[in-house]
Amino acid sequence: MGSAITGWGDALPDRVVTNDEFAARLDTSDEWIVARTGIRERRMGSTTSELAVQAGRAALKSAGIDGADVDLLVLATTTPDQAIPATSAAVHHALGCRGGAFDLNAACAGFVYALVTADALLGAGHRRALVIGSETLSRVTDQEDRSTAVLFGDGAAAIVLESGATGDLVLSYDLGVDGSAASLLYADHGGHIHMEGREVFRRAVRTEMVSIERVLADAGIGPDDVDLFVPHQANVRIIEAVNERLGLPMERTAIVLDHTGNTSAASIPLALAEAADSGRLAEGDTVLLSGFGAGMTWASAVIRWGRRGLPR
Ligand code: UT7
Repeated sequence: MGSAITGWGDALPDRVVTNDEFAARLDTSDEWIVARTGIRERRMGSTTSELAVQAGRAALKSAGIDGADVDLLVLATTTPDQAIPATSAAVHHALGCRGGAFDLNAACAGFVYALVTADALLGAGHRRALVIGSETLSRVTDQEDRSTAVLFGDGAAAIVLESGATGDLVLSYDLGVDGSAASLLYADHGGHIHMEGREVFRRAVRTEMVSIERVLADAGIGPDDVDLFVPHQANVRIIEAVNERLGLPMERTAIVLDHTGNTSAASIPLALAEAADSGRLAEGDTVLLSGFGAGMTWASAVIRWGRRGLPR
């Protein structure tokens, strides 16, 4: 038996922070930020657990199930509410889930790591999993440092995974990490994000390309067979560079970073949920996911979109 994505939902804080708001107090401009990143505004506020609960609730509603129907919760985050306990414990409690819950930190690749892990656990006997990416990166960003402040935002999105589908959800995947490059992007406990932007940019394009080519080959397909590409939303220039090399048009690519900024583990599910809400996904579509981030981690997957889950 395979699994399927039967529901999705997202949550963004109310406060919109425009580029002009940064330009009013830092040596930057709307023109620079848009040209260099594609970001026009981002949302800030709330907590990682609150956003995760809101997104999780929306996903459960969309799937037509309750928290008690969920027997596995995986929360991908790199900005947990506290050092101890895991943020997923509070989310599990608020949503009334059953079974186990854990946080997973693979930074911007976290959601794909979580999806692949949850799908494997459904194969091992779990029935319904709630997979959430939730981040409050504004809390760990130095709002006075123009090189990072303008990039990151807060948000969450979630999907419901159910066993009992006829075909496989995950057609192929690739998870990786290169700890030797950890110093390129990090935040100490209680500190702020430090990033070697230019080098991270170069590695993001290079690593995503290798990873994507691997999952396409493993799934036995080419770029032309991808109905929708849902990349990590760090910088539109990274996405354009990858698309150009793959020969994949931007029209078949989901973009939300213009209004969310980089939300790390929340960025891929936010883009996926928005694409689904706007009717860009049809039953049987082939979807390519790929993320890259601190660690340095990467993760790609080819999935088959389809809503058929367990009988109601
Ligand atoms: O999600 C995890 C993965 N993260 C990423 O993928 C981020 C990857 N990196 C990037 O997206 C880009 O490298 C940045 C957006 C961070 C920077 O863009 P860039 O085109 O690589 O610019 P740069 O770092 O080469 O900087 C160019 C100039 C520098 O000035 P000088 O040295 O040429 O005088 C920076 O100081 O732009 C300056 N700069 C800014 N200017 C205006 C840096 N930040 C800003 C700013 N406003 N906000």
